[in-house]
Amino acid sequence: MDFLPSEDPGAAEARRLDETDPLPTLRAEFHVPTGPDGGEVAYFAGNSLGLQPRAAARLVEEELLDWARLGVEGHHRARRPWVDYHELLREPAARLVGALPHEVVAMNSLTVNLHLMMATFYRPSGDRTRILIEDSAFPSDSYAVQSQAVHHGLDPAETIVRLRPRPGEEHLRTEDVVGHLEREGHHVALVLLGGVNYLTGQLMDIPTITKAGRAAGAVVGWDLAHAAGNVPLRLHDWDVDFAAWCSYKYLNSGPGAVAGCFVHERHVRNPALPRLAGWWGNDPATRFAMEPDFVPVASADSWQLSNPPILAMAPVLASLRIFDRVGMEALRAKSRRLTGYLADRLEGIAGLEVITPSDPAWRGCQLSIRVADAKGLVRRLADEAGVIADAREPDVVRLAPTPLYSTFLDCHRAAEALRAILH
Ligand SMILES: Cc1ncc(COP(=O)(O)O)c(C=O)c1O
Repeated sequence: MDFLPSEDPGAAEARRLDETDPLPTLRAEFHVPTGPDGGEVAYFAGNSLGLQPRAAARLVEEELLDWARLGVEGHHRARRPWVDYHELLREPAARLVGALPHEVVAMNSLTVNLHLMMATFYRPSGDRTRILIEDSAFPSDSYAVQSQAVHHGLDPAETIVRLRPRPGEEHLRTEDVVGHLEREGHHVALVLLGGVNYLTGQLMDIPTITKAGRAAGAVVGWDLAHAAGNVPLRLHDWDVDFAAWCSYKYLNSGPGAVAGCFVHERHVRNPALPRLAGWWGNDPATRFAMEPDFVPVASADSWQLSNPPILAMAPVLASLRIFDRVGMEALRAKSRRLTGYLADRLEGIAGLEVITPSDPAWRGCQLSIRVADAKGLVRRLADEAGVIADAREPDVVRLAPTPLYSTFLDCHRAAEALRAILH
């Protein structure tokens, strides 16, 4: 099937938009897989696994070379000494999520970090035991909160409150979340929501919900898997208690990449907080004194357990450098242009329903569409048109034009492929 005949006026318009956009694509800085016709695919799965920055291989290779060259001495003598390697990620990560540098740390993976955060911040007591999540929370988050309840000797069925949209609606309304907190907040110990919902692509009103949760006396944490690198965040100013995110989606740092974690300044300076401790959370000034008593460093690093995996952190560094260079504001502006264009192009295609908020203020770059056969459609998009999307149970296909490497022409190609296949 030829989706883009050369005389296609839509393609010409998309090319014009690509050529005149104020933020030219950085696609050349990424490895783009090839499709069935041998050409580059139109990649819309950056919400699942982002593409590899070309700079990543060099940074990993340099660590391998330093390890070969220096052995154990690389801890202090590598070109980027391993003992402080995570420091290289701190400031770019802080800028990415709107945090102070000592409020962020790159470590572990997302679910692990959620558990570490809950070990500190989920302190059920008396009547205040509940954890508030979305009904459409990512399964790992559901399992994590349920197991936390069990860990505290509580019944998950009574402890976990799953917030549902109103009947017939796709999205949680901010006023309903706030209303619940006003009515039931005295029972809520922890609010743990997704900043951008993985299924619908809804961007939550993080500042308003955080404020309401804290006013109710709860701790408020955010799973930012689909928000970090997708939408601008101001975690410090919004007074978020904690947040965690993965780095393999919009942050393009590779499968199972080292994740990120935010703890608000008011907590990082509190050594009395209960936490699961390890030597890399100890104050570096005394870390190697080999004393038995834990002295938490006054930063988010105090939740680190082990010495960090340098080879896995190198791609995160490669990626964060790109974000730092371009800046989230410019990326968000381009993201709105690309996603708006794709949304326009999807209008009127029979056989699909866009379930992501239509207001660009309440979505990131992902558009979710409801179709009859999501998996079959994703297969055909890839095989017949070189358009890479993903499917989520039961009937959702997600398409995320990411502003670093997706183009208007990719969006046009996806829309034409959908129209042809669904016709
Ligand atoms: C919203 C959300 N939370 C949690 C996870 C689990 O991430 P991890 O496997 O890195 O723990 C994912 C993974 O895609 C996710 O999308």
